[in-house]
Amino acid sequence: MNFHILTLFPEMVLQGLNTSIIGKATERGYISIEAVNIRDYTLDRHGKVDDYTYGGGAGMLMQAQPVYDAYQSIVGRIGQERARRVVYVTPQGKTFNQEMAQEMAQESDLIFLCGHYEGIDERVLEEIVTDEVSIGDYVLTGGELPAMVMIDAIARLVSGVLHNGESAQTESFENGLLEYPQYSRPEIWHEKRVPEILLSGDHVKVDAWRLEQSLLRTKERRPDLYEKYLQGQS
Ligand code: ADE
Repeated sequence: MNFHILTLFPEMVLQGLNTSIIGKATERGYISIEAVNIRDYTLDRHGKVDDYTYGGGAGMLMQAQPVYDAYQSIVGRIGQERARRVVYVTPQGKTFNQEMAQEMAQESDLIFLCGHYEGIDERVLEEIVTDEVSIGDYVLTGGELPAMVMIDAIARLVSGVLHNGESAQTESFENGLLEYPQYSRPEIWHEKRVPEILLSGDHVKVDAWRLEQSLLRTKERRPDLYEKYLQGQS
């Protein structure tokens, strides 16, 4: 899976994604991540990529030309078919969730477009963007952090990225429930004991206990998810 990020801050996204599991996955070739600097494509002599908005209003807008040409540079390298899916990260988009991460993880290439300032000229969005996605109802200063959040969530679902295939499946949201509590050594810490059943070695009982804990936790912390889960069971 290849991630292409159109951004004014390539070093920010590359540094943020080159450590830990995602960094290892890149090193091992399960995924690739490239950042294309939109500023490299401006035709403005002074390297400007933004301008005032028509009709007035606060702030500057990213102009269509450098964004479009930066996108075309990706198309030129990987071909129109592979450059099909362009995700614009914006608080106006559909809210990102695990289901979207799973669906996007099926693609061979994903292009993320990160805005800055007051946003991007609508005309270029109309021409290249296929998906508008938000990471939640709050406003950040730019699209880089949301793009990194989405790339992390998508990349870990790509085959080979997590060594333990099971861990992606048993985690929160994968079965519509929050994950059960987990414990490691020692058996007693601050006078708190690990639940006895986890020491029993009886996998059937352990699985039943974990499901029960998942249900309790989801009911208490995310009643909306719990309702959805129950509806799916009936
Ligand atoms: N850009 C600024 N805020 C954002 C958000 N919440 N989600 C996606 N992109 C954004």
